[in-house]
Amino acid sequence: MEYRGYDSAGVAVLDGAGTLIVERKAGRLANLETELDVTGRDRFAGTAGMGHTRWATHGAPVDRNSHPHRDTAERVAVVHNGIIENFATLRAELEADGIELSSDTDTETAAHLIARAYTDGPAAGDLPASVRTVCRRLEGAFTLVVTHADEPDLIVAARRSSPLVVGVGEGETFVASDVSAFIEHTRDAVELGQDQLVAITRDGYEVTDFAGEPAQAKPFTVAWDLSAAEKGGHDYFMLKEIEEQPEALANTLRGHFDHGRIILDEQRMSDQDLRDVDKVFVVACGTAYHSGLIAKYAIEHWTRLPVEVELASEFRYRDPVLDRDTLVVAISQSGETADTLEAVRHARGQKARVLAICNTNGAQIPRESDAVLYTHAGPEVGVAATKTFTSQIAANYLVGLALAQARGTKYPDEVAREFAELEAMPAAVQKALSTVDHVRALGQQLADSKAVLFLGRHVGFPVALEGALKLKELAYMHAEGFAAGELKHGPIALIESGLPVVVVMPSPKGRAVLHAKLLSNISEIQARGARTIVIAEEGDDTVRPFADELVEVPAVPTLLQPLVSSVPLQVLAAEIARTRGYDVDKPRNLAKSVTVE
Ligand code: M6R
Repeated sequence: MEYRGYDSAGVAVLDGAGTLIVERKAGRLANLETELDVTGRDRFAGTAGMGHTRWATHGAPVDRNSHPHRDTAERVAVVHNGIIENFATLRAELEADGIELSSDTDTETAAHLIARAYTDGPAAGDLPASVRTVCRRLEGAFTLVVTHADEPDLIVAARRSSPLVVGVGEGETFVASDVSAFIEHTRDAVELGQDQLVAITRDGYEVTDFAGEPAQAKPFTVAWDLSAAEKGGHDYFMLKEIEEQPEALANTLRGHFDHGRIILDEQRMSDQDLRDVDKVFVVACGTAYHSGLIAKYAIEHWTRLPVEVELASEFRYRDPVLDRDTLVVAISQSGETADTLEAVRHARGQKARVLAICNTNGAQIPRESDAVLYTHAGPEVGVAATKTFTSQIAANYLVGLALAQARGTKYPDEVAREFAELEAMPAAVQKALSTVDHVRALGQQLADSKAVLFLGRHVGFPVALEGALKLKELAYMHAEGFAAGELKHGPIALIESGLPVVVVMPSPKGRAVLHAKLLSNISEIQARGARTIVIAEEGDDTVRPFADELVEVPAVPTLLQPLVSSVPLQVLAAEIARTRGYDVDKPRNLAKSVTVE
C-alpha cells in the first residue's frame, strides 16, 4: 500500500492480553522495517493489528506525526486517510478539557474523542458505537481504522468520501484502502458505502451506517491476482506497467462492442439522455486531464458537440454553465481524487449528468455518477500514470463513439470501423515498445540536462504536456510542454544551445499541413541551437534532417497517435529519473491517490 503515501509508516498490534504495541517511523516503510529489526519483531505477536503509510497533510513527516495515533492512556489506536476539516475546533475542545496532544495531526483528535466516547456516555464499552459517535461529529473526508486494547479480537473501520474495502478470508478478515493490501490472502472483497462503518473479527464483518442501523455493503470478487500487483522481474512497477500497455488497452476495449453497438459498463442513462446532450465537459486532474484534452479532438470530430476540458480543481469554483443536457465526463484512475469527486458533485448538483471513466471498481466517483466506463487496466502501483493514461484515451474514445452512435452523427458501419481501428492499437503499442532500448540510451544521455521542452500540435500537444509532466514528476527536472504554434509567441526565448527539445510529429499523410508547419517550427529551434529529439511515424523520411535523434513509432490513424507516441515519452522520463538515482515508483512529495483538495 506504500504507493498511497510514503512519508512515514507505522504499525499497531493488540497482543491479546490488553496491551497495544505500536511502532512508528518517519520516511519510507523500509525505515520502519529497520527499526523493527532493531527493536524486535517478536513483540508484535498478537490477535489483531493494523499498518499505515502516510502522505502528510497536517504536520511534517516526523515520527510523532506518524500513524497510528493513540489517546493519552494508550488504549485506542487510530490510522486515518483524508482530512478532518473541523479538527481545529475539536483540538481546542480537547485542550480545554486538559488533554495534551502529542502530534500536529488532525488524526490524533479522533483517537482522543473515541477513547472518551468508549469510557463515558451512551456508547461506553462499545467500540463500534464509540466510533460512530465520533464520526458523526467529524467533517471532511476520512477513512478511520480503530482498535482498542480492551477489544483484542475486533477492528472497527469507518468511511466518508475516502475508500475502504473489506477482505473476507477463511478465519481472517481485513480492511484496507485498496484490495492490493490483502489480495495475497483473499480475492473476496466487500466495498463499503458512504458513511458506513464495519466491525471486523476473524470470523467475519458487520456493516452499519453512522446511526447504527444495519447497512448493505457490496460484495465483489477481485478480477486480478497477486502477480498483477508485483513487479514480476522488473526493477520498477512503472517499467512493468509501461510494458503492460498492450494488454491493458485490449482489456479496456474488451466487451464494449457487441451486435454492432458500443456498450458502456454501468449505464444509468438512457439513449435518449445521450441524444439530448448539447455540451460536454471533461473534468480531471494531472495525467487524466491530459487524456481528456486528447478526447476533445475525437468527441468534437465524431459528435459535433462542443467539448470543454477543465482541470477538476478549477471547475466548480468558476460557476460553469451546466444544465440537465450537459454531459460531464469525469476521468480518474483511482476514482477517489478529491478534486474530481467534488467536480462531479458540483455537476450533479446543477442537474448535469456525469459519466465516469475509472480504473477502480466501485470507487466513489463511479458510485456517484450516472454512467461508468471502467478502463480495466489492472492495478497501477507506480505513482506515475502510464498504462492507465493510454487506457483512459481508449475509454474516452469509446464514450465519443457511444455519443456519436446515440446521436446518429456516425453511421453504424463508421462506428464499427473506428472500433476496429482501436482494436488494432494493442499491437501498435507493442510495436512502439520496441523503441525502449533506444529511448533508454537517450535518457541516459539527457540525465544531466537542466531542462527539457516538449512540443506538439493537434493531439500531439496533450502528448507533449504529458511527456513534460512525467519528466517533472519523476526526474524533478524542469520540463514544459507547448503547442508548437505558440513557440514564437514567447517560449522560443527559452531555446539555447544544447537545450533538448522533444517534438511529437503528426503523420505526414494524415496531417500533411500540420506536419509541414511543425518542420518549420523545428527549423526555428534548430537554428537557435536546440538539440531536437523527434518522435515521428515510421517511414517519415522528411523529418530526418530536422532530428538530432529520431524515435520512430508505428503509423496509426491521427486520433490514435497519442497511444503510440506517449510510450517513448514515458520510457524517457523513467530512464532519466533512474539515471539520476531517483525512485521511479515513488517520486518525492507525491502519492498515487490524491484524496484531499
Ligand atoms: O486517480 P486520478 O486519475 O484521478 O489521478 C489524477 C492525477 O493525480 C494523476 O494522474 C497524477 O497526475 C499522476 N501522478 C500523473 O502521473
